Amino acid sequence: MKPENFATLARVLEPVNSARGLPNAFYTDPALHEEEKKRLFAKGWPAIGFGKDVPEPGDAKPVSFLGIPLLLVRGRDGTLRVFQNVCRHRGMILVDEPIRLKGVIRCPYHAWCYELDGALRATPHVGGAGHNTHPDIDRSALGLFEVRSAVFMDIVFVNISGDAPEFRVYAADLIARAEAFADAKLFHGGPDSSFSLEVKTNWKLAAENYLESYHLPWVHPGLNSYSRLEDHYNVVEETFAGQGTLAYTPGFGPNGERFSRFPGLSPKWDKGAEYPTFFPNVLFGFQNDHCYAILIEPVAHDRTIERVEIYYASEEMTGAGFAAMREKNAAMWKSIFIEDIGVVEGMQRGRWAPAFDGGKFSPVMDPCTHAFHHWVASHFADA
Ligand code: FES
Repeated sequence: MKPENFATLARVLEPVNSARGLPNAFYTDPALHEEEKKRLFAKGWPAIGFGKDVPEPGDAKPVSFLGIPLLLVRGRDGTLRVFQNVCRHRGMILVDEPIRLKGVIRCPYHAWCYELDGALRATPHVGGAGHNTHPDIDRSALGLFEVRSAVFMDIVFVNISGDAPEFRVYAADLIARAEAFADAKLFHGGPDSSFSLEVKTNWKLAAENYLESYHLPWVHPGLNSYSRLEDHYNVVEETFAGQGTLAYTPGFGPNGERFSRFPGLSPKWDKGAEYPTFFPNVLFGFQNDHCYAILIEPVAHDRTIERVEIYYASEEMTGAGFAAMREKNAAMWKSIFIEDIGVVEGMQRGRWAPAFDGGKFSPVMDPCTHAFHHWVASHFADA
């Protein structure tokens, strides 16, 4: 990191009242983006996908995350595993498209075959034509490279470095905050409850915009009309931060139908809803009748994909009888997230102004954004 960035980075670690935000280079410099991959993503528990992507035993889906080819596989026992999507023989990519495997994972190059748990099972002709073994090919040592993974609320998290604390330990503060949502059976709404947005911004700005409600009156006047700025509060913990509201109003159908409520929720959720950002890349929405997760995928230092998946509390909510309500709900969220694109792209362009010094936080409205900046900066403390 350049010396001028190091000096300004120290100011990010100050209390919110005096702190400055992250230096411009954290948004505009591809080299720093590469450094973030190592410091923020490889060592922590970022999200790479959803369990619903591989719903049935034998389902496999390739995912490229931070340039790393990964493979989500649902085993015969229902366990979801993540592997590096590469053959142990000559390094061929194993699976190029989502697929439902009837048997093994077969490499398309020389047909080495792997069980769904990653074990190498077959090595045809490896000892010469007609000889499927060789003394120097120890299959037991040539299984797929498994990536440490955990599934929470149907979101697939990975720890690429392999040495982070257990996910449930690492995310204990979020799990406690999520209350009954964390243990609820979630029902994805289906194709009408799934959408993605591609945004010309650094991934952090997508998160930062989600961390504050300060912008609601001007960017989301519609939302602000029933979920007002003054109804919101800040929550800051070690691994997440975000907004809560005291004025959540569930949607309803033409005849007064409502989505069913998640079981076991405390009265806090009768009118409350919370929107934590779990560092680094999952934005949650917890409401008593549905929840969603936005997976922020940092494609490049200035390009981000936001993948949105919406879940409900019962199977009935996923049926045809509630399709119109689900579509309306997804359209409502999509319109709000689209309203944010102008500001997250505008802030990215603003990072090219050489005099910009990271900005000045409002001690009242921006403590969540500052907490996120502090989290990022603390991972560079040894730089
Ligand atoms: Fe996979 Fe040769 S590269 S079998």
